[in-house]
Formats: sequence, C-alpha cells, structure tokens
Amino acid sequence: MKALFSIIFPVAISGFLLLQGSPSGRTLQQSGSVYPAEVKKVIESKCYGCHSINGKSQDAKDALMWDSLPGLQKGKIIATLDDMIEVLEEGTMPPAGILKKNPEMKLLSEEIKIMKSWAKTWADSLLK
Ligand code: HEC
Repeated sequence: MKALFSIIFPVAISGFLLLQGSPSGRTLQQSGSVYPAEVKKVIESKCYGCHSINGKSQDAKDALMWDSLPGLQKGKIIATLDDMIEVLEEGTMPPAGILKKNPEMKLLSEEIKIMKSWAKTWADSLLK
C-alpha cells in the first residue's frame, strides 16, 4: 500500500502541476459555477479567441474579458451581461468579418439560447 501510494502520489502531483503550468492559451480560466460546461464550450469555440488575453483587438478586450468578468464589480458584470444579451439577440457577435473567413464560428440558434438564458440567470441573481 505504501509503495503504491508513493508511486501514485508523485504522478498525481506532477499531473496537477503540469495542468496548472500549461499555457492556457485557448481555455477559459474561470469555470465551475460561473461558466457551466455548455456555456464554456460556446465561449471557447466562438468568443474566447478575441475576448481573452491573447486576443488581437484591443477593442474586443476593452469590451469583454471572459476571465476577468466574474471579478468585476456587480454593476459592471450586469452591464456586460446586458450588452451580451443584446449582441446575442442582434446576432452581431462573432463579428461579420470573422464569419466571412470562418463561417463555422457563427452561433447556432441552440447556442444563442444557451448563452442568453445563462446571461439572464446570472444578471438576475446579481440583482437580487
Ligand atoms: C473576431 C473577434 C471577436 C469574436 C470571435 C467575438 N467578438 Fe465580441 N467583440 C469584438 C470586438 C472587436 C468588440 C468591440 C467592438 C464592438 O462592439 O463591435 C466586441 C464587443 C463585444 C461585446 C460588447 C458589445 C457592446 O455593446 O459593448 C460583447 C458583449 C461581445 N463582444 C460578446 C461576444 C460574444 C458573446 C462572442 C461569442 C459568441 C464574441 N463576442 C465573439 C470581437 C469579437
């Protein structure tokens, strides 16, 4: 038992360190309660490239950063979620320019539904 433990433990630890230390270029840092798995999936595949530290457009980063959003003041989070519901309803994100080159990035109606109801639920919970 002791021998087994001394093998498993270092492996588990180094796996953990590896995960922690790996460059998190394309995955959301925040997860769990704030971004449920189905929301996280949409964000990572269709929004994160621009609205994250590695994004190339400063405007996009000024408008929204998924990783820092949960740490903002309540009022700011609510304002961002309101903007989010708006762009989802108007279909303005991802921007038309990127959709021309990457049509697969267009949000499916199912994904719009998921994102909208998530944003509404979060905003409502902050307003309570
Ligand atoms: C190709 C880059 C790109 C992608 C991909 C992208 N955005 Fe944006 N986003 C921008 C830019 C640039 C702005 C700021 C300028 C503007 O408002 O048009 C912006 C602004 C926003 C805003 C603020 C709008 C406002 O009214 O202030 C929200 C909310 C937003 N994006 C949500 C999203 C969501 C949700 C997704 C994924 C479905 C997404 N974006 C994908 C580039 C992107």
